[in-house]
Amino acid sequence: MRGVILFLSSQLTYTNIMNSMNIQSLRGFRDFYPEDQFKINYLRNKIAEVCNLFGYEEFEGPALEPFELYAAKSSDEIVTEQAFVFEDRGGEKIALRPELTPTLARMIAAKQGSMAFPARLWSFGRFWRYERPQKGRGREFYQWNCDILGNDSVQAEVEILEIIIRFLSNLGLTRDDIVIELNDRQFINDQLVALGLSENTFSKVFKYLDKRDKLDPNERAEYAKSLEIDHQTIETMITQSTNTMSDRMKEIISRLKAQELDSWIQPNVAIVRGFTYYTGIVFEVSDREKKYRALLGGGRYGNLVEQLGGKPLSGIGFGMGDMVLLNYLQEKGLLPAYAPPANICIIAINDEALAFTQTIAETFRQTGLAVLTYEAKGNVGKGLKFADTKQCRFAVVIGQNEVTEQKLTVKNLETGKQDLVSPEQALTLIKK
Ligand code: HAM
Repeated sequence: MRGVILFLSSQLTYTNIMNSMNIQSLRGFRDFYPEDQFKINYLRNKIAEVCNLFGYEEFEGPALEPFELYAAKSSDEIVTEQAFVFEDRGGEKIALRPELTPTLARMIAAKQGSMAFPARLWSFGRFWRYERPQKGRGREFYQWNCDILGNDSVQAEVEILEIIIRFLSNLGLTRDDIVIELNDRQFINDQLVALGLSENTFSKVFKYLDKRDKLDPNERAEYAKSLEIDHQTIETMITQSTNTMSDRMKEIISRLKAQELDSWIQPNVAIVRGFTYYTGIVFEVSDREKKYRALLGGGRYGNLVEQLGGKPLSGIGFGMGDMVLLNYLQEKGLLPAYAPPANICIIAINDEALAFTQTIAETFRQTGLAVLTYEAKGNVGKGLKFADTKQCRFAVVIGQNEVTEQKLTVKNLETGKQDLVSPEQALTLIKK
């Protein structure tokens, strides 16, 4: 008996919990209500527009990848600290994709023999990183990737930068808002060699450079010490490199100058980017005031396709997240206002009007109009309020009188004007 009572009470507790459970989304994950999804779609459309303009083709990869795809090829931080990694039921080590570049290189390597190069490719999808959620950083985010592979020439760098500038301009941003910071990892490597540093310290030097801007001079020295690199040598390299540039950088800037786009660019020796696969030009784009984190980042990767089983093939491209850009556009008032898709709401005053309402809705939809229906159950006011909330321009009201006369009451919700007209006349009024 006691056992039964215990069982019943535990069932009850369980039922109570089930009834009152308030489960939030995971930390760093977002819910996309229609107004939020609208912003993502807006970005996606702008992205597709500029990609099409430059002849880039859309592709997509899997959301889950074998963990080894990233191990040793991506960045230490992403692989060991940020990737969502788990074992699947078969015991295989899996990662939720934290980025797309290794997937892209793997896909290219698999079809290299049958593809035409240069390959210009873009993608827009969700990515996951176990980062500390903060402004502009989440654990799930959208990222636009745009890459060109199989073109070693400096023109590939120029084209990628042009795409970025065109995209940002199309959103209403200017060179006064945005800076593209550019560097050449190869050039930095050469400088470090000239200063007597050995190649196996380079990754530590890049780590230092990546963090340098965020530290004051004392902290810099401490950080260099923790990485076991000589602080003074690197600072000397920075001073020496600040007013010099690689030939490739000079060429990029001069070609952009010919199109009056060079004022978007700022050389910066401290931009090295965290990924081990970058081998040449690297860049980061941010707001000039640096109020936000980087909007996007990218660079040239010379060996990744080969490392993933292909023939030598160089690529260059970038990834841009949705979060920082949307925050920035919001602040600048550059996001369009949300509007639900239908601008006509057909209101059936009562159940007797339902059949005629359905017929009219269908007739309207066949002419291409987006139409909502509403069952008012005798309360027209509620129907009109609903139409207003959904930002409809017209409410079409159907009651007993309209059904008998086979007519429609069309109310223009902007002017308040109302007419009793035939369905054909209603279409003319609405489409005017
Ligand atoms: P990344 O710098 O790691 O580069 O990321 C590029 C952009 O993705 C960032 O600038 C940011 O806008 C966005 N992003 C990254 N992590 C997060 C996060 N946790 N929350 C919100 N946004 C985020 C790459 O991923 C390279 N694979 C890009 C690339 C493509 N390089 C060559 N081709």
